[in-house]
Amino acid sequence: MGNADFQVVDPGELKLGMYVVLPLSWHEHPFLKNHFLIESETDIQKIRGLGLKSIPIDPARSRLVQGQTAPAEKPPTASGPEPPAAARKVATEDLIAVIHDGSLPPAEKSVLVRQHSITMMKGLLESPTVQNMKETQKAISEVVSLILTDDETLHYLLDITSHDYYTYTHSVSVGVLSIALAKALFKDATNHDMRALGVGFFLHDVGKVSINPAIITKPGRLTDAEMQEMRRHPSLGYKLLHETKQLTEESRIIVLQHHERVDGKGYPKGLRGGEIHVYGRICSIADVYDALTSDRPYRKKLPPVEALKIMHDEMIDHFQKDLFMEFIKMFKKKA
Ligand SMILES: [Fe+2]
Ligand SMILES: [Fe+2]
Repeated sequence: MGNADFQVVDPGELKLGMYVVLPLSWHEHPFLKNHFLIESETDIQKIRGLGLKSIPIDPARSRLVQGQTAPAEKPPTASGPEPPAAARKVATEDLIAVIHDGSLPPAEKSVLVRQHSITMMKGLLESPTVQNMKETQKAISEVVSLILTDDETLHYLLDITSHDYYTYTHSVSVGVLSIALAKALFKDATNHDMRALGVGFFLHDVGKVSINPAIITKPGRLTDAEMQEMRRHPSLGYKLLHETKQLTEESRIIVLQHHERVDGKGYPKGLRGGEIHVYGRICSIADVYDALTSDRPYRKKLPPVEALKIMHDEMIDHFQKDLFMEFIKMFKKKA
């Protein structure tokens, strides 16, 4: 099957019976395969929700119904950006539907939950309005409930590492890993609002929306000046959430403190040990783990075991050791 035979269509031109070939790897879309026949309007909606500008289709394998052969007419919005609010609504609704779908096997559910969470976070970070934050918070609470109650799906969720290091993919990974660690640490304690915490973990990097995108997406190491600018994201995120009165104060602390290090060499304040809120100490472990297990412009991703070993052997001063040992246990339990 040669690429030369493919055509591309705008997301607005998708029709039932088209055979699509998504240019994405399996963890970046909610379907079982990346090439398939569109069989329902739901498929079309989900493909549009992926945010691709154009979709490759294979005409030889398409089975278009009479009268639907040509992508002749473009709907008015086809080439423009999708209305963000509508796109996000689909993402949060899809996410909640998947979480409550009792017929999905855990392995499949974990892939879909992750994919829809990524789409949702992408929409939020592109347009972090109060309205969008409220809607996202509702859906994140549902993800937290799933993690707290469904060990099997969590098992698969912990297995997935990212190929990419986009802020939205990273936000979902850190959210899931941090909630899982908080679950292990706090067990049945009732004095932690896990749903509020989950929102803080998912939004820990929200301050990056205020940083120059050229720095965020720079394909290489940052200069000192760029690094300084980048290091403003915890304070900027805290300020954004404080000013818009979003999240609880304890959750906002996660945003502010997730780059502090137990040895006092972190930022923005250089806090040490117990000066850093325990929620911030949890998030920093998940944050570093996800960075090491994702591909970066200047190095390949590490397998989980190697990442944990480096964190243990070379970076343990960054973390609270007993929290880190509990983090390792989450992966050992699965082995
Ligand atoms: Fe960060
Ligand atoms: Fe982060």
